[in-house]
Amino acid sequence: MTSIKDSFYAELKSVNSLNHLSDLKVKYLGKKGIITSEMKSLSSLPVDERPAHGKKINDLKTSIEAEIDRIESELKNRELKTQLLSESIDVTLPGKYTLFGTEHPINRTLSEIVDIFVKMGFSIEEGPEVELDYYNFEALNFPKNHPARDMQDTFFVSDNTVLRTHTSPVQVRGMEKRNPPVRFIAPGKVYRCDADMTHTPLFHQVEGLMVDRHITFSNLKGILVAFLHQMFGAETPVRFRPSFFPFTEPSAEVDIGCIFCKGSGCRVCKGSGWLEILGAGMVNPRVFEYVKYDTEEFTGFAFGMGVERIAMLKYSIDDIRLFFENDIRFLRQF
Ligand code: DAH
Repeated sequence: MTSIKDSFYAELKSVNSLNHLSDLKVKYLGKKGIITSEMKSLSSLPVDERPAHGKKINDLKTSIEAEIDRIESELKNRELKTQLLSESIDVTLPGKYTLFGTEHPINRTLSEIVDIFVKMGFSIEEGPEVELDYYNFEALNFPKNHPARDMQDTFFVSDNTVLRTHTSPVQVRGMEKRNPPVRFIAPGKVYRCDADMTHTPLFHQVEGLMVDRHITFSNLKGILVAFLHQMFGAETPVRFRPSFFPFTEPSAEVDIGCIFCKGSGCRVCKGSGWLEILGAGMVNPRVFEYVKYDTEEFTGFAFGMGVERIAMLKYSIDDIRLFFENDIRFLRQF
């Protein structure tokens, strides 16, 4: 009996895992285990020796069981500790975070422009970017030999098809679809074969058109001054300069007082104190003739502006190409 006990304790000492311990448990307490067979051999003893011997085996069995339970909980504790240690979190490490996108400065400027005109009752009109020469030039009263049709500026798709060079063709398409009064803006992409600090082959414009009875230049002025004051601030000075466009007569270019130097002259306004912001004018009756509007009854005004130019001024950006490079460090600032 003592030899069983000694060998058990000797073996128990080298146990260092739960698997190992359960092997030992089977070896001593299992169906074919040492203790079990000791119990079985009781029947071969003389009857009067059985109770005393049986008690010894039972005591040994109880103490082995207790010992195994003790070691088992010790091993479980140790395993839990190593597991917790390996799963521990270093709360001083920087956390994971989600990058949020921001609206592109061009889209943002575009929706700002659109919102202002929508509030003034303008609807939104769209036209194709691949446009017929007829709408891009002809019906806007560009003579056949006009320099704007030159290969240098226009991307030709075929002899009579171009990538629209401005949003003005939407004026013609919009008027063909309905009778006056009309009042809409046409935002969209336009294309010109040009590239430098202030020009990209693709850029955005917003066109505007209003036609009704008794529309005068003062209506044009009122709408544009209201727009520019909302866009650049109510104190911004606005001036109209005579200009020329084939589809408007008279035509004007509209300037705002330089928002950087407040008119005293700086690098951005090239010392003039003024920034050119858009083109405008009274719709040339020749354009009305193309869309069969009665030129005696109706008058109208039109205007057009470059979205990139306005965004560059609003956000003090001096290179237009930044808008299209998709550098996240640039875009994140908006
Ligand atoms: N389409 C002209 C351009 O791209 C801008 C413009 C000027 C539009 C005068 C107009 C206008 O409607 O009346 O340069």
